[in-house]
Amino acid sequence: MKQLLETIKSAALEAIKNSSNLKETDEIRVKYLGKKGELTAILKQMGSLTPEERPKMGQLVNEAKALVEEQLANKNAELKDAEIAGKLKAETLDITMPAKKTTVGKLHPLNKVLDDMIDIFQSMGFDIVDGPEVETDHYNFESLNVPADHPARDMQDTFYLGEGLLLRTQTSAAQIRTMENTKPPIRIICPGRVFRADEVDATHSPVFHQIEGLVVDKGITMCDLKGVLEQFAHEIYGKDTAVKFRPSFFPFTEPSVEVDVTCSECGGKGCRVCKGSGWIEILGAGMVHPNVLRNCGIDPEVYSGFAFGIGLDRLTTTRYKISDIRLLFENDKRFLEQF
Ligand code: DAH
Repeated sequence: MKQLLETIKSAALEAIKNSSNLKETDEIRVKYLGKKGELTAILKQMGSLTPEERPKMGQLVNEAKALVEEQLANKNAELKDAEIAGKLKAETLDITMPAKKTTVGKLHPLNKVLDDMIDIFQSMGFDIVDGPEVETDHYNFESLNVPADHPARDMQDTFYLGEGLLLRTQTSAAQIRTMENTKPPIRIICPGRVFRADEVDATHSPVFHQIEGLVVDKGITMCDLKGVLEQFAHEIYGKDTAVKFRPSFFPFTEPSVEVDVTCSECGGKGCRVCKGSGWIEILGAGMVHPNVLRNCGIDPEVYSGFAFGIGLDRLTTTRYKISDIRLLFENDKRFLEQF
């Protein structure tokens, strides 16, 4: 029996030594130490021994079991360590490998300038309003004091869509839409795209952008207009920029002005950008025509107002020294990445 125990013990130890995974060691545990395992079975044969032999044999069997258990535990620990080490090796990241290149989007230069403009006017108490790009003849022309046969219509080559609809040629329609549903005091700007059937060249595009402004209240004068526009020009171009008001004509304002600022390229000396004049025209403006106020149900005897229309594209090209307006619309990434 002693011999049998030795044989089983060394077979078990040999099997443990040769096992190469946790499944195998578990099988060994069942085979030798389980309920029906070989080392358990041997205890059942104790009946054939003399009473003196029994405790000795019992001790030997228990020692053998303890040894096998210990060896199994060691082997299991060893196998688990090897498994973790293998996993770590297989999942190692090569952090020296170059990462995938991600490109980050940027604001379009027109939007950058527009954001600045919105900040400037909001800080002066203006609200921002929106208007439709497909307009009616009524809002784009008629109610702005430009009847069907008015020669001023020739100033703006219009894309007509039929049935009284057109692509707005100016954001001025926002004046009417606002005055129709807001009571003075009114202080708004309306930025947006406008459309004209112009020939495309370095300074003309059939799509461009304007920012319409409107202030209506009691006692508004030309001085308020000058103050607001000078403040805006100084914030956009810097305090040293001179602002010039030239008399002009728009059907919806009386009197009307066009506003020039000193050329940011040459500082007023005269260069290619300002065509030698030293000045750049940036907007049209004036005191809202009494007819326009009346068209919106506002009494021109009680209220007065001023309005202006700023060309956002011109502002952007002069600010960033962009030589061709078409670059703003082509969306060439090589161009847009520079801002
Ligand atoms: N709508 C004019 C244009 O497109 C610009 C303009 C001039 C707007 C005078 C105004 C204004 O509101 O008062 O040429």
